[in-house]
Amino acid sequence: MIFSPGEPFKFNKMKDEAEFHQQLAQRYVAFEDALEAKAPNPTRQLWHTPTELFRPYYGEAIARYLISNYKLTSYPYHDLIIYEIGAGNGTLMLNILDYIRENDPEVYARTQFRVIEISASLAALQTRNIHQSPSTRGHKDKISIINRSIFEWDTYVSSPCFFLAFEVIDNFSHDMLRYDPFTEQPYQATVLIDRDGDFHMFYVPDIDPVTARHLKLREAACGFSFPHPLGSSKMLRHFKASLPFAGNLTDPEYLPVRLMNFFEILHDYFPAHKLIISDFHTLPDTVRGIDAPVVQTRYERRTIPVTTPLVSPVFPLPPSLFPLPSSLFPLPSSLFPLLPIPLLTPFHFFSPHCPLPLPSPLSLHPDTNK
Ligand SMILES: C[S@@+](CC[C@H](N)C(=O)[O-])C[C@H]1O[C@@H](n2cnc3c(N)ncnc32)[C@H](O)[C@@H]1O
Repeated sequence: MIFSPGEPFKFNKMKDEAEFHQQLAQRYVAFEDALEAKAPNPTRQLWHTPTELFRPYYGEAIARYLISNYKLTSYPYHDLIIYEIGAGNGTLMLNILDYIRENDPEVYARTQFRVIEISASLAALQTRNIHQSPSTRGHKDKISIINRSIFEWDTYVSSPCFFLAFEVIDNFSHDMLRYDPFTEQPYQATVLIDRDGDFHMFYVPDIDPVTARHLKLREAACGFSFPHPLGSSKMLRHFKASLPFAGNLTDPEYLPVRLMNFFEILHDYFPAHKLIISDFHTLPDTVRGIDAPVVQTRYERRTIPVTTPLVSPVFPLPPSLFPLPSSLFPLPSSLFPLLPIPLLTPFHFFSPHCPLPLPSPLSLHPDTNK
């Protein structure tokens, strides 16, 4: 379940960050009290996202960017088509549409918003939230909610479109590899679930074909200029591995293979898309390893950190949150050279003084992106 704070916070009336956290804690308690009163549940998992905490301003900032970029590139030849995967409560969608309707009726007349959502219950909640008031109901002809995983997408969309993925790719599953410190042979982690539901991890030298493709792609694009378990000097590695009680494999690295599949889907089915993603670029208290996740669960309204990824998954929001892969940062657009990814920071979205990046000639002629 995704936390919703109710009325927007009045940020300009707050003294400092501490006051924000205090008010947030109060709203959290009130939100969970109301849920408990309806249906007590000691194992309820509750998440919060910037979309919800900073609504409607967060969505409005994104809407400003969408309008400017659309007007610079596609208006009036194409509609403003926005895809959002993993829309949660549907808050970002409604905040974006409210802003466009209010501030640019001409663009609003050309806007279509399509959500691709894996969870049936969240898709139903998004539909309910569209009908919650006359104002939100006004958007209903502009919206389609498609209850499907992005990984099952099979429709070619030739029109230029924006693709939003907010706090979604941290949900995508990863593969884990460890290496022999002497031979440098990779071993892939495999998990066996026994009859009692207990997890057992073991390592095999056969690398899954998708994982192998990810490794090849990464090497072709980045060489070895990214953090890697074999990154330290050979001598130091051998020395450490020879110490008493040292493990016989290196620390793990977590590979975002599903993120690679996501980029492939964008490339194959949405050739003229522009991608806007927001997610953690770093996380505190992760389990050990490179691009390792934070694993946590909630019990009786308390967040409990866990030291192993081997905890029962809570579909569709797993208890492991992964940071953006560090290999994306040295060479953001060369990892997937066919995707024009301009790397934007919050500064681009939130400051009225920050010039928006100019569209590239490619985005003016989407067919050449193929
Ligand atoms: C943490 S929530 C983020 C919700 C919302 N974007 C926000 O910022 O508040 C992750 C969302 O991604 C959805 N999701 C996860 N995997 C997905 C997939 N493969 N295809 C489509 N949606 C997915 C979840 O169901 C959920 O709606």
